Amino acid sequence: KGDPRLQAISDAIRVVPHFPKPGIMFQDITTLLLDHKAFKDTVDIFVDRYRDMNISVVAGVEARGFMFGPSIALAIGAKFVPLRKPKKLPGEVIAEAYELEYGTDCLEMHVGAVQPGERAIAIDDLVATGGTLSAAIRLLERVGAQVVECACVIGLREVKGQRRLDGKPLYILVEPR
Ligand code: PRP
Repeated sequence: KGDPRLQAISDAIRVVPHFPKPGIMFQDITTLLLDHKAFKDTVDIFVDRYRDMNISVVAGVEARGFMFGPSIALAIGAKFVPLRKPKKLPGEVIAEAYELEYGTDCLEMHVGAVQPGERAIAIDDLVATGGTLSAAIRLLERVGAQVVECACVIGLREVKGQRRLDGKPLYILVEPR
């Protein structure tokens, strides 16, 4: 809001109608990744927000949370923890299911990646229903971490006040185009 970088970030996101299914306006962040200035501004805005919040864990949601999370983690001096789709992580995992339009999916996290009392943010490219990030919150809280905030490049802001997800603040850069 009021940040001149946000318009350019929004403009760099390509909208692909009817992908992957009829009626869906797909928000394609690969074009944002091609635009060095917009990509760097995106990471910088998150880094400026989180660098002095004593965050030790950046948890990124597969797949597109992996495209923003590690850069933020390196810049703020935190670890990066991948939250993956089932059967991808080789170690012992905990899992949380979440609802899809048809059926359910699941996110997994390695046991031991996050210690009790650590301060975490969860990041993804986009929040729609919030189901995916809710599963991320549950994974982090199950191991005793404190989820300080969820961060997304794209999402609907609430008309007044800050949007929240399961009681956690939800920080969004731009609205869907
Ligand atoms: C998209 C997006 C988020 C999720 C948001 O991922 O990248 O992770 O949906 O939706 P929600 O808020 O309703 O849960 P997708 O399911 O397409 O998986 P992918 O990243 O593996 O392609």
